Amino acid sequence: MSRSPFLHPFARPAAAAEEFVTIVRGEGALVWDDTDREYIDGLASLWYCNVGHGRFAIADAVASQMAVLENYNTFDIFTNEPVERFSAFVAAAAPVPDSRIFLTSSGSEAVDTALKLARLTHSLRGHPERNVIVGRHNAYHGVTYGGLSAQGLPLNQEHFGPLLDPVIRVDSHDLAEVEAAFADHGERIAAVIAEPVQGAGGVYPPAPGYLERLRELCTAHGALLIFDEVITGFGRLGAWFAADHYGVIPDMITFAKACTSGYLPLGGVVVGEAVLEVIEADPAFILRHGFTYSGHPTACVAALENIAILIEEDLFARVPAIAEHLGGGLARLVDAGRLVAHRGVGGIWSAVLPEGLAAPVVRNAMLERGVIARPIGASVIAFCPPLVITDAQLLRCVDALEGALDATS
Ligand SMILES: Cc1ncc(COP(=O)(O)O)c(C=O)c1O
Repeated sequence: MSRSPFLHPFARPAAAAEEFVTIVRGEGALVWDDTDREYIDGLASLWYCNVGHGRFAIADAVASQMAVLENYNTFDIFTNEPVERFSAFVAAAAPVPDSRIFLTSSGSEAVDTALKLARLTHSLRGHPERNVIVGRHNAYHGVTYGGLSAQGLPLNQEHFGPLLDPVIRVDSHDLAEVEAAFADHGERIAAVIAEPVQGAGGVYPPAPGYLERLRELCTAHGALLIFDEVITGFGRLGAWFAADHYGVIPDMITFAKACTSGYLPLGGVVVGEAVLEVIEADPAFILRHGFTYSGHPTACVAALENIAILIEEDLFARVPAIAEHLGGGLARLVDAGRLVAHRGVGGIWSAVLPEGLAAPVVRNAMLERGVIARPIGASVIAFCPPLVITDAQLLRCVDALEGALDATS
């Protein structure tokens, strides 16, 4: 047994090097390993590769930008043309009026940025005591301390010491707890953070009226509403943002992943008027927050090319087909008594396994059948395929799950 020099994220450090699957190339919704075995990428890698793999147009655009200016920082007085163009696009595409875009290299950095901007806004308004963050059970908001603290997956928080304080955790579906939090602490709540569709927690679309009520409560109590759209942003529900899909306008939106389809790391925050009017008010105020790679021009060029592909190939129009074939296929397995339940919306779905079946075991059996899906917890298998996936490939995802259920039951 040998040990990989690479300490893998979200993996067992004790795992042997032989246990890892080495992915060597990809095209569309397919990837291949180093034995030339083909897999359907049922999770768009890690919920991000919306335009599919092997896009030479993005590679070419990145190479051209690298040849001219690989990067130059955007702190203080510096800017670059790709970051201005990308920000202009996102500000126009996001349903947050008159927004501006702060950029990061990841979803976790985007979440921490949004949380800091929320507290900053209230503090500049003269209310530093308004510092409570409200998060939801089962939420995933990344792994840096802000997002780690706001999330609602306790296993991720274990052993990492004191977290950001104060955070109030509320039920993900039942509004009574949110209303109680506002009734008890309304004057102290800085922001509510919510994934419109909870992804990494197991794929939970919002209960009817939930997001609308969050908006009402935040508005009534002067708190900011943050939508964490790191998975849902850039097309997962067939719109640029889930906020559009659900018709609820937050004060900030975090995004990452599909903004470049993962070709280069990039994320950010759509920052709305409620924050901007405060941080722009004093001409001498300096926003002392930013990452070395905030506004990386090559990452922004990858994003712009990714956006061009999404538009030119009308890829959002593929989302109903994913819902029909994947969501419909999972529904059939539920009807046949093979699954306990299925959940999802648009291009993101999950299957709840019968008791006694372990999700990682089912995942491995699916791998043997040429499909990559993600096990979540003990009993959920998640799907979030590239938007370019074909109908036949979607049906193969369902067949592989059914075959894996047969093999492991
Ligand atoms: C909703 C949500 N927020 C934040 C993150 C963290 O993003 P990253 O892994 O890029 O830091 C993720 C990652 O899956 C996510 O799904």
